[in-house]
Amino acid sequence: MEDMKEQRILEFVLENALHGNPQSVLDNIDKYCRNQEWAMNVGDEKGLILDKVVQDTDPLVLLELGTYCGYSAIRIARLLKPGVRLFTIEMNPAHATVAKQMIEFAGVFDKVQLLEGSTADIIPELKQKYAVETLDFVFLDHWKDRYIIDTKLLEECHLLRKGSVLLADNVVYPGIPDFLEYVRTCGRYNCINYPSHVQYMNKEDALEKAVFQGYQ
Ligand SMILES: C[S@@+](CC[C@H](N)C(=O)[O-])C[C@H]1O[C@@H](n2cnc3c(N)ncnc32)[C@H](O)[C@@H]1O
Repeated sequence: MEDMKEQRILEFVLENALHGNPQSVLDNIDKYCRNQEWAMNVGDEKGLILDKVVQDTDPLVLLELGTYCGYSAIRIARLLKPGVRLFTIEMNPAHATVAKQMIEFAGVFDKVQLLEGSTADIIPELKQKYAVETLDFVFLDHWKDRYIIDTKLLEECHLLRKGSVLLADNVVYPGIPDFLEYVRTCGRYNCINYPSHVQYMNKEDALEKAVFQGYQ
């Protein structure tokens, strides 16, 4: 565990960031990952798009697929009003351990519930076990072959309502063509593409927003 990059990111934050200050935690993660070791956080450039879409959506219940070190969860949580719930799913126990400490240190633990396990197992449990009726906002940022599978799973579990916003990272790099074709052509989503760059690199990437229009 001590040899893990994710642990080194956490140590840098604990040494340099302000306790209880989410922006300071984000700034220090970005600083470390830009200057020392690249990591797969959404990052500060695409993070601004994430911020804007979350704020425009004004959600009450949110879901993130893929927590990693907790960067995007902290980023989202710092924008949420009291009482709003963000669930974030992470299947790698080592990542979940780092994320819990990061979220705690940032002071946003009251808004974020980290669910350990795979999206395949946890999405079907959201209604019964976590009292989720429908989701207002979903950030897809886990393994890329799961985007289309988990989008269909969210539909099958009736977790989406008219107006639910899906926001998908990495739709240009590495690219998720099956997911993009599905949301753009199935007739159930209105889509907007937000061009940007891969985190901490000068390489093109984009986020895709897909707004659910209902089940017919
Ligand atoms: C790109 S990182 C997430 C980055 C994070 N959203 C951020 O911006 O800070 C992807 C994470 O998703 C997790 N993951 C991948 N597939 C998953 C699945 N099916 N269920 C749960 N977690 C998954 C990986 O272990 C990894 O930690």
